[in-house]
Amino acid sequence: DWTMAAYRDEAIAKIREQVGEGRVICGLSGGVDSSVAAVLLHEAIGDRLTCVFVDHGLLRKGEAEEVVTMFRDHYNIPLIVAEESDRFLTALDGESDPEIKRKTIGRLFIDVFQDKVAEAGDAEFLAQGTLYPDVIESVSFSGGPSVTIKSHHNVGGLPEKMGLKLVEPLRELFKDEVRALGSELGLPPSFIGRHPFPGPGLAIRCPGEITREKLAILREADAVFIDQIRKHGLYDEIWQAFVAILPVRTVGVMGDGRTYDFACALRAVTSVDGMTADYYPFTHDFLGETATRLINEVRGINRVTYDVTSKPPGTIEWE
Ligand code: XMP
Repeated sequence: DWTMAAYRDEAIAKIREQVGEGRVICGLSGGVDSSVAAVLLHEAIGDRLTCVFVDHGLLRKGEAEEVVTMFRDHYNIPLIVAEESDRFLTALDGESDPEIKRKTIGRLFIDVFQDKVAEAGDAEFLAQGTLYPDVIESVSFSGGPSVTIKSHHNVGGLPEKMGLKLVEPLRELFKDEVRALGSELGLPPSFIGRHPFPGPGLAIRCPGEITREKLAILREADAVFIDQIRKHGLYDEIWQAFVAILPVRTVGVMGDGRTYDFACALRAVTSVDGMTADYYPFTHDFLGETATRLINEVRGINRVTYDVTSKPPGTIEWE
């Protein structure tokens, strides 16, 4: 696509102009946005870019390993990995308020990030994969009064605090444009086409208190649900799909025994930019088969529900 090629060249020129001979730190989340930002920056300034990836213990199955393989091994981008699960999960222990959870994760993320930035040496710039919808959704919602629906997880405020200047090469783009740009930059289609994943990760798919047990269940359940979606060829039709674990145990029966395990909710939506969304119309066969697989393959779940709320009035994530 010639317009994206032109956009890429322009974006690279802009980065070079802004950064000069300086060094840049980029927080990698493993998602499409920060990955595209990182590869774009790497094209613009090469090894003057260092990426920092924080494993907050709220990632999906295999996610941390994938990031290391892709960026360190494949792209050869200097990458610092902070494995800080214990610190995050300890801080979140017993907390069930969605905003406090988000803020706790955001605050710790900044602490960890700050330590790693110091380790990385003398950077002057901090890069973020902020998109246009992030910019507007945090200011107003549906043209209504200025109100924050959810405190987004980012490193807002950090640049000033650390005397770093902000580089936001994706700030004018919508998600589909970021994907086109990523493709222009040679990121693999399987990666570009990945569903978005929120910064606070599995924390906001675990309403109520977060425990290691619930996170382990969520990781397995999510892997099964996504596998089902891929097997039925539906992945690319869906904007985002995931499992939320409900803060309730219910009674079930398996074999001759009684079970008392967690209930979960499947969430799958179509959307253009994440600002509005419709629930995906799975067939009853698909839902039934998925429920059977989840209950058979994931220990700890004995009931499966499907969330049929659109956005608005719902949001995509459960918190
Ligand atoms: P909601 O739940 O607000 O989500 O309808 C809209 C889109 O944004 C993602 N999301 C986040 N992404 N940090 C992010 O980077 C966050 O704190 C965050 N909260 C929600 C969500 O997954 C969906 O794609």
